[in-house]
Amino acid sequence: MQHPTVTNISLHDHAESMLQEKISERVLSGEVIIVRQSLQAIGYFESLQEASLNGIRRATGQEKAAKIKNKGFEAFHEVINLDELPSVTHHTYEVVRSLAPKIAKKLIKKVFQQEKAFYFEEYPNVRFHVPYDIVVQRKDEFNTFAWNGKVTAHGPHHDSWYQCPTNSINIWIAIGKVKIGNGLNIYPQVYGKLLPCTKDGKIQRDQYFGSALNFELEPGDALIFHGEHLHSSEINSTDATRHVISLRMTLDKPKFLNPHSPYKYDYIYSQPNDGFWEEFTQFVVRKFHNISKKINSIIAQEKNQNYIISPEIISKFDDTSMAFPQEISVKTSSRKLVGDTKLILDSKELKLGEIRPISQKLCAAKINERRVVVFDRYCPHEGADLAAGYLRNDCVVCPWHNLPINLQSGASPCQSLQKISVFDYQEESQKIKGSEAE
Ligand code: FES
Ligand SMILES: [Fe+2]
Repeated sequence: MQHPTVTNISLHDHAESMLQEKISERVLSGEVIIVRQSLQAIGYFESLQEASLNGIRRATGQEKAAKIKNKGFEAFHEVINLDELPSVTHHTYEVVRSLAPKIAKKLIKKVFQQEKAFYFEEYPNVRFHVPYDIVVQRKDEFNTFAWNGKVTAHGPHHDSWYQCPTNSINIWIAIGKVKIGNGLNIYPQVYGKLLPCTKDGKIQRDQYFGSALNFELEPGDALIFHGEHLHSSEINSTDATRHVISLRMTLDKPKFLNPHSPYKYDYIYSQPNDGFWEEFTQFVVRKFHNISKKINSIIAQEKNQNYIISPEIISKFDDTSMAFPQEISVKTSSRKLVGDTKLILDSKELKLGEIRPISQKLCAAKINERRVVVFDRYCPHEGADLAAGYLRNDCVVCPWHNLPINLQSGASPCQSLQKISVFDYQEESQKIKGSEAE
């Protein structure tokens, strides 16, 4: 299968708006679309920024909201105590939720140029993604366990692992700036596969899915992609909080892998137009929807407590991703890999730009014609296998949250993470030289 492409469009330019034809089919075939200034184009830029400030105001008071308005959402963590984050997120959810139906309608008309009925998820997602080093430094300010999902980076997943519809379109809207280093990863090389996950909804360590696409967005820009794309959050290795609100929609009836998905009743039917009949239909549909939701919650009370997919459905997923890089054979003449220990490998087996595991603990990469490096196999963040990572500039990039680790120093931009050990492999003497991380 050809890898999906990324297209940039702007809603102001007529020629580019022609590109929007069949946009929904294109997104559901894997194309990733960036709509520049989407909120400005639908007239919701100020109101969504104000909605977030309103959530902050309700949770923490006027003074802090005014400071963030002044400094930008990027300075969120400089103003807010981390123990206020749950309350800020909750209040922002409430405010944004009331705007969601109108925003969904506008997007359907302006971006998707669709006149027929559609469905949208009742609860948009609100995220203030604080820099990783700040979370570590200030972890005493909050209960990590309770707010794990709000301060940690999401690992690679398909949305259907969490019982979302398989035909959902994600509209991921930057409210503040999104930079490389605090954004989103999309893995186009495995598009079309449904990878297996662990029973608690995490990617398995032995999966290989190639390099990630990353995006820089200005406030108001929207990234539109199929929820079945494997995607994850970047670990926030910048000094800025990233603030994004995301909506999910389906343009036809939502389709679920699990017919009892708890999200089944969170998708609201809507007409794209305004006017008496549309309002009336919407009113009737909503009433019916609320009654069905209540009945369902009574019948299925404890059935779907966690939103992770059941083992029966997991067993239907594809077995594997792309082929995992194969181990190359090495001989070592002593156990400890420091100083003058001999490590013998056939570096001709290594192609330029390739990473291969060489043992349970180490992998090797040929970063240019003259340099082969050997380094620790596991990421200091959450232990992803770096043999499944990729090379970018002088770094190995972690496959799970896109952390770049420098292959000279072993350090990443996150000061609070341990360095990894990196050794230079010298072919002539068949030795490795280097120092282990302190
Ligand atoms: S960046 Fe998270 S596991 Fe490597
Ligand atoms: Fe997701």
